[in-house]
Amino acid sequence: PLNSPSQVGLWSARYIADKINQFQPTQDRPFILGLPTGGTPLATYQQLIALYQAGEVSFKYVVTFNMDEYVGLPHSHPESYYNFMFNNFFNHVDIQQENINLLDGQATDLDEECHRYEQKIKTYGNIHLFIGGMGNDGHIAFNEPGSSLASRTRTKTLTTNTRLANSRFFDNDINQVPKQALTIGVATLLDSEEILTLVTGHAKALALHAAVEGPVNQQWTVSALQLHPKVVVVCDADATIEL
Ligand code: GLP
Repeated sequence: PLNSPSQVGLWSARYIADKINQFQPTQDRPFILGLPTGGTPLATYQQLIALYQAGEVSFKYVVTFNMDEYVGLPHSHPESYYNFMFNNFFNHVDIQQENINLLDGQATDLDEECHRYEQKIKTYGNIHLFIGGMGNDGHIAFNEPGSSLASRTRTKTLTTNTRLANSRFFDNDINQVPKQALTIGVATLLDSEEILTLVTGHAKALALHAAVEGPVNQQWTVSALQLHPKVVVVCDADATIEL
């Protein structure tokens, strides 16, 4: 483990930049990067922006796919994942607009939107590197406890626990937190060539335990990471207290 969340940000950003640079992406052969939202990856995004500003990495030929999005929040809502990504990352780097992929939580046909997303990922083949976090109840993306480990992109009803945890972004008012989200499935994530998971703080300790040492099961969907041949867990010391 690293000493602090900022160290996790620094280490993970350097790792991601190195992967992109080693790949030497071009217009015809872009690097496909999966991205998360939440409090944890903020430090990583800040460090990636710093590396971009220092000329150490470019996102010009990087195609991104975000993990999830709330249902029903307009893009302009401060807590939509669309808004989060543009504010905290896309607006600050040289990514091309047409290379950004986000689930549309306002689509009139949500099933069709999820199908479109899965198909779009397939047009690129595999996602080269998916960055993720985990909920304190062990959900990954918005694959809540009980999600099938074979799941693909779909609509999920959020648990009270998740809505409570995320209410800190909604004036501490659970009623403002959307009841549903669109999310990539566990199997969608496992199709990636590599997964980098960011975990910081005591509140994630049980989830990290489930991810690394627990039995693979659908109550802690993060445990499915054990089925993947190439997962890097980047954590701070606080997150490791249950290991
Ligand atoms: C949300 C997201 C997850 C994320 C989790 C943890 O539920 N859908 O993808 O991993 O929050 O977020 P945080 O990093 O803010 O603890």
